[in-house]
Amino acid sequence: MAEGTPTLRECVVYARRRLPRYEAELLVSTSLDVPHNHLYAFDERAVAPAAFARMAQTVARRQDGEPVAYILGTRGFWNLDLEVTPDVLIPRPDTETLVAAALPLIAPGARVVDVGTGCGAVALAIASERPEASVTATDVDPACIALCRRNAERLGLSVATRVADCFGFGGLFDVIVSNPPYVDDDDPRLDEGDLRFEPRRALRGGPNGGLDIIARLVREAPAHLVPGGWLCLEHGFDQERALARAFRAHGFRRVRCHRDIENRPRVTVGCWERLKSRPIQRGFEGLADNQLTHFPYKPCANACPTRPQALNRGSMVQVGHPRAIRLSARQHP
Ligand SMILES: C[S@@+](CC[C@H](N)C(=O)[O-])C[C@H]1O[C@@H](n2cnc3c(N)ncnc32)[C@H](O)[C@@H]1O
Repeated sequence: MAEGTPTLRECVVYARRRLPRYEAELLVSTSLDVPHNHLYAFDERAVAPAAFARMAQTVARRQDGEPVAYILGTRGFWNLDLEVTPDVLIPRPDTETLVAAALPLIAPGARVVDVGTGCGAVALAIASERPEASVTATDVDPACIALCRRNAERLGLSVATRVADCFGFGGLFDVIVSNPPYVDDDDPRLDEGDLRFEPRRALRGGPNGGLDIIARLVREAPAHLVPGGWLCLEHGFDQERALARAFRAHGFRRVRCHRDIENRPRVTVGCWERLKSRPIQRGFEGLADNQLTHFPYKPCANACPTRPQALNRGSMVQVGHPRAIRLSARQHP
């Protein structure tokens, strides 16, 4: 850097020498509070030495491996910009598959619960798309629930919150969604990359292939679902068969697995049909074919850079009718 007051160009050069271009530009524009397009359009602009030092500090944190989302304090998910802190898992693009799989199952007035909500990503995305549904977000960690509440208030979305261990809060629901911890406790990836910085409780699913909490949710869900209600669980791409077996063993029918934007098995859904003779009041069965609607992908300012390309390959998710799910999901026999 030349002697004297640094310029915007010098800030970008400084960051790009140390980080990949996307991250460098994002951290410079955010830490200096400058629109991204100004980085090159007004690159001669002077930057106060204190602001330069602040920018250099964020670059150093990233060089040390800290996730960009924790440094910036935000992450885009679905169509929302969410506050994130090191208390919560950073929402992933994969988890948008869970939202897309659940939305067609949520009829007007449905009661929905998101178990293990973290910063509230899934619950808030559902609340934004289904304002007439009654959405509850739960987590065993009070810090997650506090952050979920903050996000809900800032975004003006209505979500009830509970601190609870799995279904410890009781209640009866039409749709249960969850992205539970599902990484095996001994998985070496827990000590690599961004995962090193994320809460263990959000990631570790137990020593049995990471399936302990998933198994518990599948076992306990029927007591909290209305007949005809749905359980929707995110899981590891290599856990698809285990999930299908568990769902069927606990009385779920119409079990299907949805694939994520990388085309990997990611979300299993199943219908709790134990009391077949009782008419279903609130399920989607009442929807007619002409209620099939299209759900456009809405890009988010602070989204994963790879996501728009991936979703452009198939960004239209059809909602409103069970047949729509069959378009994108594999059905287990
Ligand atoms: C993989 S994170 C998912 C966070 C968020 N739903 C998302 O998709 O970004 C799992 C979450 O489950 C919570 N959790 C872990 N064990 C739990 C339990 N026994 N009962 C309720 N929540 C639990 C963790 O605190 C964490 O917030």
